[in-house]
Amino acid sequence: MRMVTRTVDLRSDTVTKPSDAMRAAMANADVDDDVLGSDPTAFRFEAEMAKVMGKEAAVFVPSGTMGNLIAVLVHCEVRGSEVILGDDSHIHVYENGGISTIGGVHPKTIKNNPDGTMDIDKIEAAIRKPNDSLYYPTTRLICLENTQANCGGRCLSVEYTNRVGDIAKKHGLQLHIDGARIFNASAALGVPVHKLVQAADSVSVCMSKGLGAPAGSVLVGSKSFITKARRLRKTLGGCMRQVGVLCAAAYVALKENVSKLEDDHRNAKMISDGLSQIEQFSIDTDSVETNMIFFTILDTSVLSPNKLCEALEERGVLLLPASPTSVRIVLHYQISESDANFALTSIKQAVQQILTEASHQNKEPNGEAKHNC
Ligand SMILES: Cc1ncc(COP(=O)(O)O)c(C=O)c1O
Repeated sequence: MRMVTRTVDLRSDTVTKPSDAMRAAMANADVDDDVLGSDPTAFRFEAEMAKVMGKEAAVFVPSGTMGNLIAVLVHCEVRGSEVILGDDSHIHVYENGGISTIGGVHPKTIKNNPDGTMDIDKIEAAIRKPNDSLYYPTTRLICLENTQANCGGRCLSVEYTNRVGDIAKKHGLQLHIDGARIFNASAALGVPVHKLVQAADSVSVCMSKGLGAPAGSVLVGSKSFITKARRLRKTLGGCMRQVGVLCAAAYVALKENVSKLEDDHRNAKMISDGLSQIEQFSIDTDSVETNMIFFTILDTSVLSPNKLCEALEERGVLLLPASPTSVRIVLHYQISESDANFALTSIKQAVQQILTEASHQNKEPNGEAKHNC
């Protein structure tokens, strides 16, 4: 067992600790009862988010999952509604099927392409109207995810989002964006975030991912949408009293950390370029557009994702297996360039260590190679 002198946690961008500025803002926040509508710090944060996102209003919610759930349920008020969304989207895969179990909303999935998009013609072909056959639910919503996490943090462009928005409008549907990492997309594409979500009727933005706040997401949209969202937040138990304590940290995250996302993207590129030089791995470096890296291990019989992650943990580098053959790395604002270099070097060393140990185990005590008959 090695002595770990340094920890570089690349499991997710959700692992960040509040910065000193966030802690100070939380300690000094002017707070009141937000359920009574009188917390000034929550009000200030929500007003700022609405402005930055180019929408009329905003509401702070405890998590991205609740933000998405509220959005889908507000847009699909009528029972028997259907939502079109990606088969690899967070809402569909990782949110406990809440839109169905809690909201009674039927998901119609479209395949996510490797770049995170869904084919526009497939979206349009999937739309079902109230006057269609008696058998079908009625489509009322399309959901996009930007960046698309399971596709490797890929960015959806303004053009693509607008095209989906046009389809939604043409058919009288709403468009929601799960923008958990929309600021990463904005930074990577070099497009102001409000332009990126102009076509959307609602957006859920996580403050506790790349932006580094300890907790919370925000939902933005029209005034009438946010009024309904506030009621539903109450129903779901998501109203919090002196929530300004959390909004104060989220405000600092918005003001101080958006500009740091580019560093995360640069570090991700550097690591992915390094990984592409390791012959045991396969990685599409062009697909690394933001702060996420997924790489495949070519022969997992000796070097499995679990084994690699365990060997790295002993060196103080934390990664997560993404599948039986792949591993995920996520950069965030508490990872410096030096940490990123340390992680890459550690990965190279861990691979060598595992291969060397395996080759020793595979030899007879006299040094002869063992034959596996
Ligand atoms: C794309 C995406 N959407 C939504 C969420 C949900 O956020 P939360 O964990 O705050 O519920 C996540 C969380 O990882 C996410 O990656």
